[in-house]
Amino acid sequence: MEKEVKKISIAVIKRLPKYHRYLGELIQKDVEKISSRKLSEMMGLTASQIRQDLNNFGGFGQQGYGYNVKDLYREISKILGLHNKYNFVIIGAGNLGQAIANYHGFSEKGFHLKGIFDINPKIIGMKIHEVQVMDIDKLEEFIYTENIDIAVICVPKENAQEVADRLNKTNIKGIWNFAPVDLRVRKDTVLEQVHLSDSLLTLSYKINEKLLQERQEKIRQRRDIPGHPLKSIKT
Ligand code: NAI
Repeated sequence: MEKEVKKISIAVIKRLPKYHRYLGELIQKDVEKISSRKLSEMMGLTASQIRQDLNNFGGFGQQGYGYNVKDLYREISKILGLHNKYNFVIIGAGNLGQAIANYHGFSEKGFHLKGIFDINPKIIGMKIHEVQVMDIDKLEEFIYTENIDIAVICVPKENAQEVADRLNKTNIKGIWNFAPVDLRVRKDTVLEQVHLSDSLLTLSYKINEKLLQERQEKIRQRRDIPGHPLKSIKT
């Protein structure tokens, strides 16, 4: 009988790929077990956070032993659905679409590129990473005949919703959208949006925050120097 799926909070789910990555690296280094303290040092989380997170799926840790790396990796892979294989297509064979098509790391994780689609006749017919770019008009039929699970949207933002509308009429399971627009998709389609510019703005915020803190610290230090003309410091 299939085990009941336990609900895990989104915050924990968002950390799972990181656990997966670190544990994968430990396996490559033939590390068999690891303590929550060691894992926490590597990952920049607290040991208690790690224990709490990992308790969510069966308390793999043993007092005085730590975690069995392979067991934990296997369990996290299962939770992430990586025991399944996924077929995906890329829509938009421009800069980003080609970069994703040329990246080897996805197939290692069970994501197989089956087709690339574009609207531009100059690009249709071109081969990228052994896959021929097809006319977007063949998209729907291809999704059904090739059992495509995921569509990766790499078209300009002005064209992204029309592509999503086409996908909404198919049985696609998931959409990975890179266009900087929030798409409307069917309720039963899983949508994951990757807004690289949003991430860049977060980086900018963090750099700016750090600069401000350093500036304030400098002012504080100068203020402590007796007789320092504080007024001359611009803030
Ligand atoms: P691009 O202009 O190089 O490529 C877009 C491709 O989509 C073109 O080949 C075009 O013919 C095709 N296309 C347009 N409408 C289509 C449709 N209805 N059906 C099928 N194909 C269609 O653009 P790029 O740089 O690859 O960016 C793609 C998307 O990713 C954009 O939305 C962009 O904002 C976003 N993005 C790109 C980044 C990058 O590093 N290139 C970074 C962050 C976001």
